[in-house]
Amino acid sequence: MFHVKPESISSETLAAVFPHRASDIVAYADALADVGVARGLIGPREIPRLWDRHILNCAVVAPVFRVGATVADIGSGAGLPGLVIAIARPDLEVTLVEPLLRRTRFLAELVDRLELSVEVVRARAEQLHGSRRFDYVTARAVAPLERLVGWALPLCSAGGELVALKGSSAGDELVAADQQLRRYNAAAVKIEHYGAGVVTPPTTVVRIKSP
Ligand SMILES: C[S@@+](CC[C@H](N)C(=O)[O-])C[C@H]1O[C@@H](n2cnc3c(N)ncnc32)[C@H](O)[C@@H]1O
Repeated sequence: MFHVKPESISSETLAAVFPHRASDIVAYADALADVGVARGLIGPREIPRLWDRHILNCAVVAPVFRVGATVADIGSGAGLPGLVIAIARPDLEVTLVEPLLRRTRFLAELVDRLELSVEVVRARAEQLHGSRRFDYVTARAVAPLERLVGWALPLCSAGGELVALKGSSAGDELVAADQQLRRYNAAAVKIEHYGAGVVTPPTTVVRIKSP
């Protein structure tokens, strides 16, 4: 097995971002670089930037969630950001929602191996409408906000939040999603940045509250 050292970050940062399970996040990085690449879940070109661009980019968002909350990560893929958040914040009840079998297999294997209390659900987000509700719904690189709002807000409890990890397009996507936001009576909408000093650029997060 490859061992992908978190060379780009200090051991202090690693311990600060993953205070409970630093060895689990290193095992996850190794798995992504090894079976993740072999099974086509992540491109080999991503490996040199696995820590900065993927793992830390997701982990810095972990402080958003209130203690003990339920979190569904829709379109989790190889576990980003859901599995990273679950490792950074073991107090959360995390559900990974992903339609593709190849990906849910990988996720379930990791959950077993790392003995995480994380649920893996093979489904499209829309298939859970009416049957599941969460305090938070996260998503990264799944769909533009205009579409994501319709997939995620019906999964939020009253007062729950969509926490979308976005890039520099966040502002434009919000403008384009205006009609959908009205349709779902979205309450507070905020753009925030997390991880200054840990990742460059900091991670842009769009937070949209369900009424
Ligand atoms: C580009 S990948 C991003 C994966 C991961 N979130 C990341 O940041 O690396 C998009 C993922 O969304 C999933 N997906 C697409 N449509 C979806 C839907 N309606 N509900 C849930 N997941 C969906 C795909 O199967 C795929 O794994």
